[in-house]
Order: sequence, then C-alpha cells, then structure tokens
Amino acid sequence: MSRIAYVNGRYVPYAQAAVHVEDRGFQFADSIYEVVEVRDGALVDEPRHLARLERSLAELRIPRPMSEGALRHVMGEVVRRNRVRNGLLYIQVSRGAAPREFYFPDASEVEPTIVCLARPQSRAALEARSLAGIAVKTVPDIRWQRCDIKTVMLLPACLAKEAAREEGAREAWFVAADGLVTEGASSNAWIVSREGAVITRQLARDILPGVTRATLIDVLKQEGLTLQERPFTVEEALGAKEAFITSATQIVMPVVRIDGRMVGDGKPGATTLFLRSKFHQFATISSA
Ligand code: PDD
Repeated sequence: MSRIAYVNGRYVPYAQAAVHVEDRGFQFADSIYEVVEVRDGALVDEPRHLARLERSLAELRIPRPMSEGALRHVMGEVVRRNRVRNGLLYIQVSRGAAPREFYFPDASEVEPTIVCLARPQSRAALEARSLAGIAVKTVPDIRWQRCDIKTVMLLPACLAKEAAREEGAREAWFVAADGLVTEGASSNAWIVSREGAVITRQLARDILPGVTRATLIDVLKQEGLTLQERPFTVEEALGAKEAFITSATQIVMPVVRIDGRMVGDGKPGATTLFLRSKFHQFATISSA
C-alpha cells in the first residue's frame, strides 16, 4: 500500500509529496513539530500534543496554519488513509517558503507549511524492548537555551543518538556543564531512588515539557508514588534502583545501562514496568 502524506491542504502519495526548496524549515530549522502515538487506531494524548504545538508556534510567532478542529480532522485522516493501527503520527509546521533572508518574511508574503505523516510501529517489538531494557550513553548537552520549544533543530540530538548507537546504546542522555542530566536526545530522563521516589528534572527552558512526562506524573499522583522534580547526576542515576525514559515513541522504557555500567541489577525495574503497564489507562485516547 502506498503511503499518503498531507502537505499544505492535499493528501498525496509519498512520491508526489514535497515542500518548496526555500522552505524556512529546510533552510533555517524555522519549524516546529509533534510526534503522537497511535494506538489501536486512536491518538494518545492528542489534547496535550495540540496544546504544546500551539505553544511552540506562539513562541516562534508562526501563525497557526489552521483551526484546531481542522488539524484534528487532518490528523485522523492521515491515520485512516495510511491504515495505521499502531504507530506514530508526525506533524510539522514551518514558517513557510520565502526568499532566503534571516528576518521573518512579511506575514502577507508567506503562509506556514504544514506536513502530516503517519507510519506503523510494531507494538510487539516495543514490548520486547521494554522487557530487555535499553542502554544509554551520556554526551555533553551542546543544545541551545530554548529546548522547551519543540523545534526541528535536531542536529545535536542526531549526533548524540548516532554516537550512542555506535556504542550499542539506543538513547543518549544530555549532561549539562554542571554535571546534571538534562534529558534524553528524544526523551525525558527519570530515575527511581533506593527509597522508591520517582525523580525527573523540573520543567524549565533547558528541557522539553514531554507529554508522556506530564501524563506519567498523573499516574504517579493517582497511584500514590512519590515524585521529585529535580535534577540528578549520572553518578546518582548509576546508584539508583531504576532508570527509565519517556517519550511518545517509547512510552516508558527501562534504562538498564548507562555508559556501559549497570543500573540497579541491570534488569528493568519493577516500578518502571508498573508505570509502563498503567500509562495508557491515564492517557487521553481520542478516536482518529
Ligand atoms: N521526541 N525531550 C526531547 C528532547 C524530545 O525530543 C522528546 C520527544 C521528549 C519526550 O516528549 P514526549 O513525551 O512529548 O514525546 C523529551 C519525539 C518523540 C521525537 O522527536 O521523535
């Protein structure tokens, strides 16, 4: 089955799906995005993803490309037309195409570019990964000071993840100059202390406010677990009982090794697997 992309008002086969060569997303990374989990044909935490998309647009002063209702319709259509039951939905909005100038083009001369894609992802493979856990590699956080905006300026993340892969790790953890972990290259970072407190860095401009993070905090509160929103070092993570990451693509994924050293007993932790098992009961599930 050929895949269908939504590009600026049209549903087109991939072979015909294209954006302009002077799109500012391509030239300047002047563009924002969202990745949403598709589960059993439904969208997971759609309201939180749409709220963050709206915020990213506002922070960069990119006009909203369409109403929220229209966007939700497009998202549903892209899932349906690609017959994705389990997988990921991708939305990207750039400031649009204009002659290459650093200044923002006049609003009258440019319209935002919007692209929406969906692709399947094997749930069984993800489940299997969660039972083995993943390794992470730490790298210096060389990103800019507005990591709270979900922009496509992802080169540091690509470099970090490639460096991780070369050492057999699936994810990279960024470490700031002060030795504290900020977040994963494409996930939020968490640990579980020996006393059972669940710890993740507090929201600020140096990390992305993860949607999965927000929903997991709802789970923690409801299940009566202790949450500490504070930074931690790599040493603290290595001495912790458990570690894990969260993202729309991995949900809650156990981390069993950091820089080749074991976390806890080197197996996915009980708290992590419990949180993973609870997650979708607390997420908002919207039919596509
Ligand atoms: N990345 N931090 C960073 C830097 C991220 O890129 C992501 C998500 C997260 C987790 O956010 P959420 O729970 O909303 O997915 C945290 C997406 C999945 C990606 O770029 O593929």
